[in-house]
Amino acid sequence: MTLAFVVPGLDEAASEKAIAILQNRLSQEQEAALVLKHAHWNVTGPNFIAVHEMLDPEVEALLAQADETAERIATLGGTPDGRADAIVRNRTWKSFDAEGRVGTEEYLKALIEYYDA
Ligand SMILES: [Fe+2]
Repeated sequence: MTLAFVVPGLDEAASEKAIAILQNRLSQEQEAALVLKHAHWNVTGPNFIAVHEMLDPEVEALLAQADETAERIATLGGTPDGRADAIVRNRTWKSFDAEGRVGTEEYLKALIEYYDA
């Protein structure tokens, strides 16, 4: 990793370690926003509207957090990678496995398992 600069008080090794942790977090936040939007679009059933409407503010919060994380990486002299392939490359957690138009319980259970992982 080539750093643009090093923040006073941090050596290069400490900066690279912090940036790597933040990059992993950035990928998590970006993927979680995509997963929640997927659930927003596909959740069905009698209570779907409550879950559907609950998810969009969570997506916005995750994207705002991802922006903070990316800018923190840049502040530390790193280069935040927000590309889709970076999300896949950095994934160390279990992927979200609910797909298709299924009920609120299935999506909420899958979201709980995803967040736990
Ligand atoms: Fe929508």
